Amino acid sequence: MTQVKGYLSSDNRKKVTTSKLLEMKKAGEKISMLTAYDFSMATVIDRAGIDIILVGDSASNVMVGNNTTLPMTVDQMIYHGKSVMNGVEKAMVVVDMPFGSYHASPSEAVTNAVKIMRETEADCLKLEGGIEIIESVKAILAAGIPIMGHLGLMPQSINKYGSFGLRAKDDKEAQKLIEDAKLLEDAGCCSLVLEKIPAELAANVTKELTIPTIGIGAGPFVDGQVLVMHDMLGLNIGFSPKFLRRYANLYDVITEAVQSYINDVKSSDFPSSDESY
Ligand code: KIV
Repeated sequence: MTQVKGYLSSDNRKKVTTSKLLEMKKAGEKISMLTAYDFSMATVIDRAGIDIILVGDSASNVMVGNNTTLPMTVDQMIYHGKSVMNGVEKAMVVVDMPFGSYHASPSEAVTNAVKIMRETEADCLKLEGGIEIIESVKAILAAGIPIMGHLGLMPQSINKYGSFGLRAKDDKEAQKLIEDAKLLEDAGCCSLVLEKIPAELAANVTKELTIPTIGIGAGPFVDGQVLVMHDMLGLNIGFSPKFLRRYANLYDVITEAVQSYINDVKSSDFPSSDESY
């Protein structure tokens, strides 16, 4: 199958930009975000009208089958980022900076950020953390690269937490999260993912900030929602946290289609004369 980039336009929506996200927050219009990791799925969800596509390092889990996001490398994120960019016209595309690529020093963070932006031509990068990474955040922003922050459950720090449970349940962690959120906004981040925190805390952070918050397991009082595509489409059937709503059951749909194909091949029903040259 060949796809031509310009052919993809299906409507006259404008490209989603960082300023559009701010306008949406001001207007009270909710922001929709989903992950994608490849050209074909990015094409579908872009044409369906999604606002933001996140090339998440969750690729490690749902594309590769790892238990954590830690094994992802800069080059692997570039491979997925470029694949998604090839399918997208309207959505804003955000690429995760992988574990270890922005921690050693601000200068190494900028080198990796520039490499990802140059080689993917994505619109924005996402980094996990607050005060611990703020100098790297500032240095990347100074290079003219937009950043989406990520607080709450930060899967790259799973070995520090010891579990994927709810974060910021106690006052001390909740207070730190509010301070980190302000710090990221003051530094110039364009938006902020809040993962797996109490809905009331997410609501407070959302009220405090002028940049949009995008929640996953953070309740309804945020400016937008994000889900991992494989989870919401029912491909990743072993994963069913409370916050997940499944919109399809692709595992069953694909199983049925593949079994029909196998039966047709075994019975010599496929290909028919119409399907032959
Ligand atoms: O990598 C990812 O998919 C993410 C989302 C869960 C927000 O960071």
